[in-house]
Amino acid sequence: MTTAIIGVGNIGSPLARHLVTGGEPVVLAAKDMSRAGALADELGPLARASSVEDAIVGADVVVFALWLDAIKEVIAKDARLLDDKVVVDPSNPLGFDENGQMMRTLPDDQSSGSVVAAILPAAAHYVKAFGTLSADSLASAANHQPRKAVLLYATDDDAAATSIERLIRSAGFEPLKAGGVADAGRIEMPGGDLHQAALNGAVLDLDEARSKVAGAGASA
Ligand SMILES: NC(=O)c1ccc[n+]([C@@H]2O[C@H](COP(=O)([O-])OP(=O)(O)OC[C@H]3O[C@@H](n4cnc5c(N)ncnc54)[C@H](OP(=O)(O)O)[C@@H]3O)[C@@H](O)[C@H]2O)c1
Repeated sequence: MTTAIIGVGNIGSPLARHLVTGGEPVVLAAKDMSRAGALADELGPLARASSVEDAIVGADVVVFALWLDAIKEVIAKDARLLDDKVVVDPSNPLGFDENGQMMRTLPDDQSSGSVVAAILPAAAHYVKAFGTLSADSLASAANHQPRKAVLLYATDDDAAATSIERLIRSAGFEPLKAGGVADAGRIEMPGGDLHQAALNGAVLDLDEARSKVAGAGASA
């Protein structure tokens, strides 16, 4: 299984590093190809860099490690390439105002996941994942001892669930389903009750995460 990681910033870079450490081949792409190339060189033979389009075509799973607006742009341009791909979306409903301040870009009752899922081709397999923790925690909490840290995901799609569970384990975490796409907002920030930002920065183990997921609001 090959994973394309589109975007090699705060989320895409540690994710690529973890997946390669776990033995998963990755193809890296970014706006600035030289950044993807430099990271691929650093990660060794399981990683290579390519254009966004070639990365998607050559992959089974495509992780959009991009801001929501950039995800929308790439999907609008490359939707036809996403048929039959598992599409992984770590995005939050965030952008920047004219003063450079981070702001919520969607109404409180609309998740980034619902927006991304709605613009994908019907034959894509959507899953919300890899955005539950801060980038620093994602980078530092892999293979946590004595109990692995959980990464939550949300999907309505069985094929996407199978792939994301494999990738979360390969990355050194424990997977746990938070619900379907209707529950994606629970693992986004701001506002999601299961996002690390709403848990005083806590990184949960499996028992702790199961208990939180079973709290009010879950539909799966
Ligand atoms: N940072 C966090 O703590 C955190 C935590 C949870 C979830 N998230 C979510 O994860 C997503 C990524 O966040 P981030 O902090 O990793 O962002 P980031 O550090 O700004 O990285 C964004 C990446 O997207 C690439 N990019 C932008 N437009 C592109 C395009 N049209 N085609 C290809 N690549 C493009 C950039 O490439 P260049 O460098 O070449 O411009 C860069 O590599 C966001 O949706 C965010 O809400 C972030």
